[in-house]
Amino acid sequence: MARNRISFICQNCGAVSNRWQGKCDSCGGWNSLVEEPETGGVGGGPQAAPRKGRAVALQPLSGSSEDAPRIRTGIGEFDRVTGGGLVSGSALLIGGDPGIGKSTLLLQAAAALAKAGHGVIYVSGEEAVAQVRLRAERLGIGGAPVQLAAETSVEDILATLAAEDRPPALVVLDSVQTLWTAVAESAPGTVTQVRAAAQAMIRYAKQTGATVCLVGHVTKDGQIAGPRVVEHMVDGVLYFEGEGGNRYRILRAVKNRFGPTDEIGVFEMTGAGLSEVSNPSELFLGERSGAAPGAAIFAGMEGTRPLLVEIQALVSPSPLGTPRRAVIGWEASRLAMVLAVLESRAGVRFGSSDVYLNVAGGLRINEPAADLAVAAALVSSLSGVALPPDCVYFGEISLSGAVRPIVQATARLKEAERLGFERAVMPAASFQKEAPALSGAKGIDQVAALVAEIAAAARPHLRSAG
Ligand code: TYD
Ligand code: MG
Repeated sequence: MARNRISFICQNCGAVSNRWQGKCDSCGGWNSLVEEPETGGVGGGPQAAPRKGRAVALQPLSGSSEDAPRIRTGIGEFDRVTGGGLVSGSALLIGGDPGIGKSTLLLQAAAALAKAGHGVIYVSGEEAVAQVRLRAERLGIGGAPVQLAAETSVEDILATLAAEDRPPALVVLDSVQTLWTAVAESAPGTVTQVRAAAQAMIRYAKQTGATVCLVGHVTKDGQIAGPRVVEHMVDGVLYFEGEGGNRYRILRAVKNRFGPTDEIGVFEMTGAGLSEVSNPSELFLGERSGAAPGAAIFAGMEGTRPLLVEIQALVSPSPLGTPRRAVIGWEASRLAMVLAVLESRAGVRFGSSDVYLNVAGGLRINEPAADLAVAAALVSSLSGVALPPDCVYFGEISLSGAVRPIVQATARLKEAERLGFERAVMPAASFQKEAPALSGAKGIDQVAALVAEIAAAARPHLRSAG
């Protein structure tokens, strides 16, 4: 047999290079290249003579098809994120920081399915069977008929699965980084191994109709360690996130071949595992800072669900030549933009102030509609004027200072009303288009109008003080 060629594979992005180098040319990662033999693995394939191709029957695009069969786990927030339950024959990757609760979530989902009479196999490559049992006891699901194994060899796992009378409905593999297959020669945890192992398990899912859930750890910079390539192979990628020290956890779909990707599931980590939070607005508003300057309530949307959350800003005089800007839960570049627009279109000066922005409860917001709430919190903190406690804010701010319309204004206003809010500051165009569900709603079309609004609220206070 010819000597195996050696190549260097980036553990971040999977790019192949024929010599070692400190920086990956493809993704720019440092020190991520690892030497791996090139035979085997994915793409290597079996070293047999190529066979002649077989013609497959082509099908018309039109034709009957049935909905993908799904099984609901009964954990409502999990089912919401997957788009209505687990699709049979699909593969899911669940990513998240170590310790965030991935194993807990999947064990709870596995137990719920098993209790409903589905076959469930939970393979842990990180914990011994006794440890998983202990966790199940703590979660109060020790009685569920989940079948356990502590195993990391893909061949052994596949043989075990094949020995079952009928394929299970769900196979959980915790985690994909611990799996290894004899097909690939590199060490467990390397890109080649993870790819080959994931490929084998995905093939199993497609062949048998079982749902395969792969758990993947995430690196510090938010990538699923090593197997970013796995993201392209699976049918769905869910991220489990949360701020350290915070008990709320958000499950977010970043890829879903069988459903929407903008839904989130909200959980709370308790002493007895993860409990669902079906009314997240109440949770995120539960710990409001009250009528302090710098806090604005944003009426957001996460998928089909309105979500009210407090945005906190602190603007303080900076001792530094270059003032600090720090953001948690929002994009730093978006904050820079809102600051610049406030400066140049509304004459509000932040140039010599440090600016800190925080989204309460550990939520991460991606919506541009948060611009107006952020602007309100910033102006409120800078001026020391508390915003009215019964008012919500939403609207996108453009570079010209115009407040742009956003979608689903009615749903946001309804949620605000349900939670006892009476006022809203929103884009004028949305205000005219969708008859406001809230009596105290007000449409504005320029960010300067927001500043005027906040200043007007301050005047009675100044008058009484002066
Ligand atoms: P785990 O599911 O092991 O995380 P992952 O698989 O993502 O690494 O969760 C571990 C954390 O969750 C651990 O720090 C303890 C906490 N936890 C609870 O607070 N309550 C519980 O009932 C359980 C099982 C874990
Ligand atoms: Mg774990």
